[in-house]
Amino acid sequence: MSQQSQSESSPSPQHDALLQAGRTHRCDQLSKDNVGQRATLFGWVATRRDHGGAIFVDLRDRYGITQVVFRPDGNAAAHGAAAQLRSEFCIGVSGKVISRGENINPKLPTGEIELLADQLEIFSRAETPPFQIEDGIETREALRLRHRYLDLRRPELARNFAIRAATSRAVREGLDQAGFLETETPFLVKNTPGGARNFVVPSRLTEGSFYALAESPQIYKQLLMVSGFDRYYQVVRCFRDEDLRGDRQPEFTQVDIELSFAVEDQIYALTEQLMQRVFRDVLGIDLPVPFPRLSYAEAIGTYGTDKPDLRYELPLCEISDLVVDCGFRVFSQAVAAGGIVKVLRLPGAASELSRKDLDGLPALVKPVGAKGVAYARIQQDKVWQAPFAKNLDAATMQSIGERTRAEEGDVLLFLADQANIANNALSLLRQQMAQRFAVSNVAWAPVWITEFPLFERSEETGEWTACHHPFTAPNTADLAALQAGERENIRARAYDFVLNGVEVAGGSIRIHQEQVQRAVFDALQLSEAEAEEKFGFLLEAFRYGPPPHGGIAIGFDRLVMLLCNSESLREVIAFPKTQKGTCLMSDAPNPIDPKQLDELNLRITKKTSG
Ligand code: AMO
Ligand code: AMP
Repeated sequence: MSQQSQSESSPSPQHDALLQAGRTHRCDQLSKDNVGQRATLFGWVATRRDHGGAIFVDLRDRYGITQVVFRPDGNAAAHGAAAQLRSEFCIGVSGKVISRGENINPKLPTGEIELLADQLEIFSRAETPPFQIEDGIETREALRLRHRYLDLRRPELARNFAIRAATSRAVREGLDQAGFLETETPFLVKNTPGGARNFVVPSRLTEGSFYALAESPQIYKQLLMVSGFDRYYQVVRCFRDEDLRGDRQPEFTQVDIELSFAVEDQIYALTEQLMQRVFRDVLGIDLPVPFPRLSYAEAIGTYGTDKPDLRYELPLCEISDLVVDCGFRVFSQAVAAGGIVKVLRLPGAASELSRKDLDGLPALVKPVGAKGVAYARIQQDKVWQAPFAKNLDAATMQSIGERTRAEEGDVLLFLADQANIANNALSLLRQQMAQRFAVSNVAWAPVWITEFPLFERSEETGEWTACHHPFTAPNTADLAALQAGERENIRARAYDFVLNGVEVAGGSIRIHQEQVQRAVFDALQLSEAEAEEKFGFLLEAFRYGPPPHGGIAIGFDRLVMLLCNSESLREVIAFPKTQKGTCLMSDAPNPIDPKQLDELNLRITKKTSG
């Protein structure tokens, strides 16, 4: 090997002998069993240390790290070339596996050996990387996203993608074995306003018209049921132009499933088996089934949310009836105004939560619109220490104490407000406080949330909308009320699968009977003409013998995020978008050429920002 062979301008074919011969091992594979053998490894220079003579290189590939040593008394050309190595050079090395003797590195699976190199090929050189390529770095996420290809070289991130691939494999194997037919559906679909906001794509061939990017294959999978594809699945990208948070991305992946002739129990069982397989194959964990079930009403009542984290208890307790006439006006007035008063009991928290902690709680719940949090410390003989204790009579305190099962040393947190605000705020407090005061004895807490409401009022317009989508079947017991024009308390045959407080999957039994569909459209004040305009092709298909059917979609990224124990979807998506929906690496979205706009007959009329 000569110095010239490293020159980038003239790669010379004679000097790629290692590449031609191929690697013999990955960087995680060599152990003391290989001592004495020759091995060839390819990878990146993680670190290089020059110990006045011997040069040590930690060689990294996506599987692991192996220590390589170049000795001055070994191959001189290789040792000379090794002196040029810098971080992130891409190289091939060959040599003999030797024992590290006493100097083992217990942190590395390959820590008992090293490769005594006598051949080195530098495949390419690297500029100094903008951040350290190693685990646990504190580098700004923006910089990591800008150089995502380097970020992905970090072992902790690379590991996530091995988990992602293993999860995908488990899901596909499970569904294949259960007889599901993988079928693709279009991304470019008809734009039907309502539901999640769609990304739109201008059509060049049909002037002035637009496609929408599919927010999910919902309508198509129902059409496939009409086609007799009785067990469908697809691992599919979905696109939604939503406001983004940690657990939302504008493009994400669903494991989308639909079955004919199925009722809820079959869909629950199928999903449970699939989750069992995933947990077994990916994490080696046995997830007990069946999963517990909670109705939506129970979930909101007990936990203030439809995605409760059941790794810990901490139930909420409603006390509206006990305080309706009490002397503390924050409580009594909230009830008089149609609101509720609810309590979160924190066992044993009195000595832990300082005055400052407690006074900080209102700020915590302000983002959900709550006006305050009242608290009481339960002292010896169940005497309350609370700023508002003087406004409550002893009997009321006693009945609140009994209902909440308050004990000496506990803290009670009270919220008085409209039901949704009080629930949201308490759910937030429950989550926060669980980290400090709740002992969790399970690592995984799956739960089905069932019987969602069929309709809800839109927060923007106040109009009734479908909670899930307008093809969701109403609960049979509520059909008569629906047909009588009721909307408020109609339950849907819709369900979510929640794991550790994250909504992982959602689905429903669909409507296959025309008169039920009409009742739902009526309730949504959707005229026949409007329904025809929006969903005509589905309604038409339903005139040709639709089977009873239902399904579910698993948020694949969210599932993988949980399996990886990651905090954000960005840790499990190779090239994710930021909270603002941008890609810091490629700079998407970007303005397009006026010529391209012309071709599409589009004009940008005003630019409000940027
Ligand atoms: P839904 O809208 O509830 O149902 O979506 C199903 C699951 O997809 C995941 N998910 C997301 N993940 C990441 N980023 C997002 N922006 C995002 N939005 C949703 C969630 C969610 O539970 N067609 C129906 C399913 C059906 O009825 O069969 C649907 O799309 O984990
Ligand atoms: P105020 O009457 O605003 O001084 O509030 C008295 C106490 O009640 C304070 O501790 C507030 O944080 C608390 N508080 C105010 N509004 C609410 C509310 N909606 N629910 C629960 N506690 C509240």
